[in-house]
Amino acid sequence: MIAATKTSNFTAVRGSILHFLDDPERSRDEDAFEFFDDGLLVAEDGYITKAGNANELISELPKDLKITDCTGSLILPGFIDVHTHFVQSDIVGSYGRRLIDWLEEYAFPAERAFADPAHAREVAELFVRDLLSNGTTTALILGSVHSGSVDAIFEAAQSRRMRIIAGKVMMDRNCPEDLRDTAASGYEESQALIERWHNRDRLQYAITPRFAPTSTDEQLAAAGRLAAEHADVFVQTHLAENEEELAWVAELFPDSRSYLDVYDRHGLLRQRSVLAHGIWLGDKDLQRLEQTGAAIAHCPSCNLFMGSGLFDLAKTAAAGVRVAMGTDIGGGTTFSMLRVLHEAYKVSQLLGKNLSPLRAYYLATLGGAQVLDLDDRIGNFLPGKEADFVVLDPQATPLLARRSAQSQTLAEKLFVMMMLGDDRAVAGTYVMGERVHERQTE
Ligand code: GUN
Ligand code: ZN
Repeated sequence: MIAATKTSNFTAVRGSILHFLDDPERSRDEDAFEFFDDGLLVAEDGYITKAGNANELISELPKDLKITDCTGSLILPGFIDVHTHFVQSDIVGSYGRRLIDWLEEYAFPAERAFADPAHAREVAELFVRDLLSNGTTTALILGSVHSGSVDAIFEAAQSRRMRIIAGKVMMDRNCPEDLRDTAASGYEESQALIERWHNRDRLQYAITPRFAPTSTDEQLAAAGRLAAEHADVFVQTHLAENEEELAWVAELFPDSRSYLDVYDRHGLLRQRSVLAHGIWLGDKDLQRLEQTGAAIAHCPSCNLFMGSGLFDLAKTAAAGVRVAMGTDIGGGTTFSMLRVLHEAYKVSQLLGKNLSPLRAYYLATLGGAQVLDLDDRIGNFLPGKEADFVVLDPQATPLLARRSAQSQTLAEKLFVMMMLGDDRAVAGTYVMGERVHERQTE
């Protein structure tokens, strides 16, 4: 149970604090992260002012400042989910299909329901609550083809002051008639959403062609034009997820060198482009991703559930490509970024590679912020950053408590949390210094 926190515009929370300054793969430990076993995190007006040792910082604080005592818990920057579909919340865990059939049988029918704004609002509320109860404070989100779906998710996020990026899916072929837009209407509706939402409060827009098979060249060109006209807007789509999809793209775009090249030709690869999956890429593709600054969303929960393949995180990152983590609801089966890290670890094991616990938490926090080009605002606890954070409870379940008690090092503690933890371990979630989720206890 977390006690009330606020005195005027200050927030102060005491517990073990971990945040990253760099990728542990690229830096020595002391340059990559800071850990304060008995730490204090202080925010004023929603922005971090201090993170450090409690003993040193307490004397600097106003005497009457109420400090929330989370001793024994782990305080981390809020998790960042760089690929998820809020319009697929109702089909999580649907049986028996792989990507192309899954889209036809489950995803398209679920998305059809978002023509109704009341349904969109209801699901958006549920989705945002699920993000927060899992400790996720920022997400890059696909809506349906309907503009109203994007209004709904932005409204739900705005009322909680969350930093959210979202976009309306563009698709003008190879999908049901009533879910199609056109090159022109997809452009115009996306343009109108950019004007309505981009950079309003903490909300930003992502141009969202669903994936190459569901857009004509004309529509991809329109998406590219929109991107060129709005340099700081995001781009999100899917890439090289499944072998059947790969063959289909080769058939639909015979002049393109590769799947990635379809997007490249239309100017859709740049900083702030996030492509989900990227399991089946050649060396030249990795090189183009590295050159353009476009990033991959690693979605192991979905990749395993759909039987799509094993994404080689180590190889992709070694090629200089930026990678962060996505739940990919509803092809993925969990909102929990802890469980996504768990799946990523297992995939790395199957590939004979290593994913260290420190790197895993970096990928779910600062790594996500870097992929989104938002690391000047979120992702760690440097002064001036937005105070979005999560409080994780190592005692959340009897087994987690026993395993945590046996863990000697920080890395061991982090590892058991990501292998055994999920939303049960999220004691509280804070957005701009305000607690927006508190775990219910009986
Ligand atoms: N490729 C195109 N659309 C989708 C989708 O909704 N989910 C996943 N996992 N892959 C896609
Ligand atoms: Zn997806």
